[in-house]
Amino acid sequence: MEGPVRYESHGDIAVIRIDNPPVNATSHAVREGLVAAAAHFAASPEKVAVLVAEGRTFIAGADITEFGKTPKEPHLPDVIHRIEASEKPVVCVIHGTALGGGFEVALGCHYRVMLKGARIGLPEVNLGLLPGAGGTQRLPRLIGIVPASEIFTSAAQVKAEDCLALGIVDELSTADPFEAGMTFARKVLAEGLQVRRVSEMSVPPTDAEALAALKKKVAKANPGHVCHLRAIDTAVEGTRLPFAEGMKLERAAFWDMMQTPQRAAMIHAFFSERKVASLPELKGVEPRKLAQIGVIGGGTMGGGIAVSCLLNGLSVVLIERDAEAVEKAHNGIARTLADSVKRGKLGADARDMLLADKLLVTDDYARLSNADLVIEAVFESMEVKKDVFTKLDAVCKPGAVLATNTSYLDVDEIAAMTKRPEDVIGLHFFSPAHVMRLLEIVVAAKTAKDVVATGFALAKALKKVPVRAGVCDGFIGNRILKTYRTAADIMVLEGASPFQVDKALEDFGFAMGPYAVADLAGIDIGYLTRKRLAPTRKPGERWGEWGDVLYEMGRLGRKTGHGHYVYDEASPKGRPDPEVEEIIARERNAKGITPRSFTDAEIVERYMAAMINEGAKVVGEGIALRPLDVDVTKLFGYGFPRFRGGPMHYADAVGLDKVLASVEAAYQAGDAIFEPAPLLTKLVAEGKTFADLN
Ligand code: 3HC
Ligand code: NAI
Repeated sequence: MEGPVRYESHGDIAVIRIDNPPVNATSHAVREGLVAAAAHFAASPEKVAVLVAEGRTFIAGADITEFGKTPKEPHLPDVIHRIEASEKPVVCVIHGTALGGGFEVALGCHYRVMLKGARIGLPEVNLGLLPGAGGTQRLPRLIGIVPASEIFTSAAQVKAEDCLALGIVDELSTADPFEAGMTFARKVLAEGLQVRRVSEMSVPPTDAEALAALKKKVAKANPGHVCHLRAIDTAVEGTRLPFAEGMKLERAAFWDMMQTPQRAAMIHAFFSERKVASLPELKGVEPRKLAQIGVIGGGTMGGGIAVSCLLNGLSVVLIERDAEAVEKAHNGIARTLADSVKRGKLGADARDMLLADKLLVTDDYARLSNADLVIEAVFESMEVKKDVFTKLDAVCKPGAVLATNTSYLDVDEIAAMTKRPEDVIGLHFFSPAHVMRLLEIVVAAKTAKDVVATGFALAKALKKVPVRAGVCDGFIGNRILKTYRTAADIMVLEGASPFQVDKALEDFGFAMGPYAVADLAGIDIGYLTRKRLAPTRKPGERWGEWGDVLYEMGRLGRKTGHGHYVYDEASPKGRPDPEVEEIIARERNAKGITPRSFTDAEIVERYMAAMINEGAKVVGEGIALRPLDVDVTKLFGYGFPRFRGGPMHYADAVGLDKVLASVEAAYQAGDAIFEPAPLLTKLVAEGKTFADLN
C-alpha cells in the first residue's frame, strides 16, 4: 500500500502502520489509508491486526488544517466504524499522545495497549468543538458518562496509569510501540480473545448528582463557551439511544460547533500560538548558550523569573541591593517553590536541590561573571536601570546577553549605556512570571540576530509563548492597554460606572474588567503611568483623574482592602463602593459633563474599537510583525477571551468597516486617542482583512 498507511504481514499478525509526520493527524490520505487497510485485513489470512503509529506520537487528532474546508469522504467516524466492525480483533498501541480523533480511533479498536508515559485526551473543546468521531458516545459506554465528560470537558491529558485504572486501556507496556503491539497480539492468539466492540457495551449507571455538579462546575469554568455543555448533553442524550443514533446526534452537534465563530477563533489562536515562535528572520540563526541565568532584583518580577528558570532546569544567580534584600528575595523564592511542592508540581527533594545547588542570591555583582544571560528586573526608573547596565557591562563575560524586563522604558536608551548594545534586548515577562505564558521579546535598533534567537530559545526553555515586539512606550501589550484603559475611563467620565464597564467586559468574556485589574495590580501603577504620560498628552486628550484621588486616599486596590471596590471577608472578590461613585461624580461636575447612560453593547464596542485601532497602529508601525502577534499578546498576557481569537481576529469577524465607523465616531466626538490607524483605513478601502496580513 502507498501513502501514509502501510500494511505488513507478520505470520498470523497484520501490522497497520500510520506514518504522517509531524503528529500523524488523520488527514484525508490517512483516512483513506485506514479504510483500505481495514478492507485488506478483512480479505487476508492474518488473524489479528496491530494498529501502530510511527514517530513521536500516536495520532494527535483530526487534521486541523482541513477544518473550515469542504469535508472529504471517508469521514473519520466511518473510518472508525470500519475498524470496529472488523470480525477479527484489532489491537492498537498508544505512544506519545492519542488526542481527539486519535483517541477516538483507539476507542474503535478492540484492545488498547498503552506505553508508560503516554497520554490520552479529548481536547476538542480547546478548539471550540466537541469530540466528533465517537468520543461522546464510545467513551461513556466504556467508563461512564461522568468520568467521560470530565475528560472531554477539561481537555485534560490522562496519564497511562490513570487510563488503566479507569478501564480505558487493557495493558501498559514499556516496550517500543511495535513490540508492545506484537506481544499483545500474540496473547490474543494464544488466549483466543475475540472482538470486543465498545459501541456494543451498555453504559454504566450514572450518578445524577455527580453529573449535575459537573455541569455546574463546567459552566462556571467556561463562561461564554458553547461547546462544553453541548458535549455533555450529547453524551447524555446519545447514550440513551441505539449507538448509531447516538453517533448521528454527535455528528450533528459537531457540525453545529464547526459553524460557530468560536471554532474559527480558537483554531486561529491554536495556529497563532505556534506561528509567533517561528520568525523568518531567525531561520538558520543559532541562539547563544543558555545554562546560567543572572537576575537583577528579586522583587515581584525578579523572584518570579528566577522561579521560572529554576523550574525549567536553568541555574540562577540573583543580585539584590543589600543583605536584607538578599534574604527577602531568597525567602520569596523559597515560598513560591514550597507552594509548587504543596500543589504537587515539584517534589520536596527536587525543591531542596534547586535551593541548594541551582540558586545563588547575593549582592555581589561579580558573581555574574559566568552568566550566559542576565535579566534586569529592578525598579522602573531609567536612572536605576542605567546604573545597573553600566555595572553589568563591567562584570559580564563577552557574549553574555543583557536583557531588561522594563514595562515601558526605551530599550535603545538602556542599550546605549553599554559598550555592547548588540547584546542588549528587552525580555518583558508578565506577573506572576512563573505562571503567565507571554514573553514579549523587545528587539532594539542594534540587537544582534543571535541575541533575538536566544530570547526565543529562553522562551522555549521556560515553556512561554514569545512575541517579537519593537521599541515604543509599552511595546505591544502595554501600549495597547494604555489606549483601551483610557477609552474605558472616558466612558466612565461620560456616565458609565466602573462596575458596569467591568461587568460588560466580563460578560463579553474577559477574565476581569479593567477596574478589577487595576485593583489587583495596584492603583499606584495607573497613577504612576498617568504622571509619566502627563507631559506627552496631546491637545484634546481626555482621561480620568479619580484614580489619582483614590491613590491619594491610600485606596490602592486589593492590597489595602479598598480601590474601585471594597474587599473584605464578606466580599473577597470586591463589591462596588458608593464612595467611588461620588468621587467620579465630583470630577464630572468639575469638568461640566452631564452623565448619560451606556448600554453594555456600547461599552464593548467602544472598548474594542480602541483596542483594535491601537493594535492596527502597532502593526502599521512595525512594532508587531503581524496582527496575529497582537492577538497572541492579548490572549496570553491580558486575559482576552480565547474563544474570540484575539482583538484583530475579532475585528475581522465583526467587519473592519464597522470597527472603523466606531473609531471615527469616537474620534469625531473629540478624543485624540481614537485617531484612525492608517492601516485600518487602508484595509477598509482595499476591502481586506487583518487575516490577509498574517
Ligand atoms: N492537525 C494538524 N496539524 C497539527 C495538529 C493537528 N491535529 N496537531 C499539531 N499539528 C502541527 C502543529 O501545528 C505543528 O506544526 P508546525 O511544526 O508546522 O508549527 C506541529 O504539528 C507540531 O505541533 P506542536 O508544535 O504543538 O508540537 P508539540 O510536540 O509541542 O505538541 C501535540 C504535540 C500535543 C500533539 C500538540 O500539537 C497538540 O495539542 N495538537 C492538537 C491536538 C488536538 O487538538 N487534537 C484534536 C483535534 S480535533 C479532532 O480530533 C476532532 C475529532 O474529534 C473529530
Ligand atoms: P519590585 O519593586 O517588586 O522589585 C524590584 C526589586 O529590585 C526590589 O527587590 C529592589 O530591592 C531591587 N533593586 C532595585 N535596585 C536594585 C539594584 N541596583 N540592584 C539590585 N537590585 C535592585 O518591582 P517589580 O514589580 O518586580 O518590577 C521590576 C521591573 O519589572 C520594573 O521594570 C517593572 O516595570 C517591570 N515589570 C513589572 C511587572 C509587574 O506586574 N509588577 C510586569 C512586567 C514588568
